[in-house]
Amino acid sequence: MRLSASFGAAMASSLAVCRLHMKGRGSLSKCLQKVDTFLHRTIGTNVVAVQEEREGCKSLYGVQAERQEQAERSVLISCHSRTNEKKFLKYLSRHGDINKYFFYESYGMYAVVEFANREGLVSLLEEAAIPSISHESMVPFKSRLLSLRNLGSADASNQQSGQQCQPQTTIPINELIQRLSREESIEQQITSLTHVYQLTEENSRLRFLVCSLLKDIAAAYFPECTINPFGSSVNGFGKLGCDLDMFLDLDGISGRNAKMPKSGLWLEYQMKRANSERAVTQSLLSVIGDCVDQFGPGCVGVQKILNARCPLVRFAHQPSGFQCDLTANNRVAMKSTELLYLYGELDPRVRHLVFTVRCWARAHGITSSIPGAWITNFSLTVMVLFFLQRRSPSIIPTLDHLRDLAGPGDKSVIEGNDCTFVSDFGKIQLPSNAETLEKLLCEFFEFYATFAFNKMSISIRKGKEQNKPEVAPLHIQNPFETSLNVSKNVNVTQLDRFVALCQESSWLLQQSDTNTPRGGNAGKAPTPWGLATLLMPSQVAGIKGRKKRRREPASERIKSLLESLKNTNQHKKS
Ligand code: GTP
Ligand code: MG
Repeated sequence: MRLSASFGAAMASSLAVCRLHMKGRGSLSKCLQKVDTFLHRTIGTNVVAVQEEREGCKSLYGVQAERQEQAERSVLISCHSRTNEKKFLKYLSRHGDINKYFFYESYGMYAVVEFANREGLVSLLEEAAIPSISHESMVPFKSRLLSLRNLGSADASNQQSGQQCQPQTTIPINELIQRLSREESIEQQITSLTHVYQLTEENSRLRFLVCSLLKDIAAAYFPECTINPFGSSVNGFGKLGCDLDMFLDLDGISGRNAKMPKSGLWLEYQMKRANSERAVTQSLLSVIGDCVDQFGPGCVGVQKILNARCPLVRFAHQPSGFQCDLTANNRVAMKSTELLYLYGELDPRVRHLVFTVRCWARAHGITSSIPGAWITNFSLTVMVLFFLQRRSPSIIPTLDHLRDLAGPGDKSVIEGNDCTFVSDFGKIQLPSNAETLEKLLCEFFEFYATFAFNKMSISIRKGKEQNKPEVAPLHIQNPFETSLNVSKNVNVTQLDRFVALCQESSWLLQQSDTNTPRGGNAGKAPTPWGLATLLMPSQVAGIKGRKKRRREPASERIKSLLESLKNTNQHKKS
């Protein structure tokens, strides 16, 4: 669904170039340190250490609970770009100790401030004033999104504070290609790409804070509700700038797990009935969508997309720069998120490979932010997981195996679908596989360049190709709703482009001209090589039939690339 009206175009382009510049203080949470260590560790060398570390991993729910609690003690403050940091902190500290704060830029300068306890936050909010201008035209909704005002004279020391902002965002693809070309191995290129692209600690906090601000709006109707992020904001595969998928959870109210007395009297609430669960979801989202639209500070371009398979409210949260999708009654997606998070935690190679493949796919327009016949990031991630299950020995277990390891507390059936899998990371034993990221990347392309898409379906539940139950060009079994195909939208053209690019990339990674560092003249941009070459524009997108491609595996692009490399070498020798 496209954003409409003039805001749509402005926001879409602004979001594309939105750069969050953040600077932070305070200690990283223990868990994120763990995740970070996990990402930095040498790959495939110390299986025992990996197992030990896995046992200490926090579940997604643990991470979410911690982040939510932090968010509830936090405020988001719009401030002047020359705000004096010291003065600002001194002012805020009068209300209570501050655990952590950071600044970022998105349509102006903002600060996220986390108090050590709720008293500090309450005191600050009590002191905050209602805007004095056009008082009558303001919706009197007091949120935790505030503006810093200064009645004093300009402060000369203010001039410096803006300089401390650190950019914390994806860099443009050209810059990434240059950066990767300076690395010394493909392994390093892959890990470098992950570090550049992955969500930062601050960005993750901001995502939870936006959910918490939204919850304050929804709580006007449903005080016991929660709003949780799901999808790439929390599954470990999020890239800076990715959308913020949110799930309005009313289970706390509906008391799904509440115990009924076996005998005697009891009271129950009278509640209005709707025609179906879907109708309830639609009316909840409709009402909350209206509240967000009319009362939500900073929420603009609200669209209610209630007839979609999964009804949602889409809007832009201007102060954070996030494109937001709010859903309700979407517990299967929450389970998929938990599963992807678990796979990402099992072995650092999973995240590195997913980031690399997602970035490669985006660079070639295989994925898109606009809905259509493209392969989605979710489908692509499942394809990477399936490939890793098919290694010998496998790098990650099948979903059926994770279900077999589940304990009684892990049992989960949602709308008749078995969503059970183990939550205790320590129970998962992995065979020793020490394949390098370079090898895996090359094999990934080879695997899908020759995959029998015409006959076979991809299933991470079984970890084996299955016969295709329907005639869709690409069939990827939905891990939990197993009769569904998550890539139903993909057409033959898009699948062909994907296969052609896999063939080309596999070929490029095997050529000594392109798979070794090229060096470069001092002061000049380094010559792209390895992963950087794979991210450069391709010519294969225009190829129509697969037969033609097989006869001509080397595209014009590769030929010209190799020609230019030869010319450069000859030039250097002469
Ligand atoms: P990006 O937003 O592209 O970075 O990735 P994402 O993983 O967040 O994907 P998206 O926003 O499209 O979807 C959010 C989440 O919804 C995914 O992570 C999945 O958990 C779930 N999801 C998306 N598409 C499907 C689908 O076709 N089937 C199922 N079962 N879940 C899906
Ligand atoms: Mg998403």
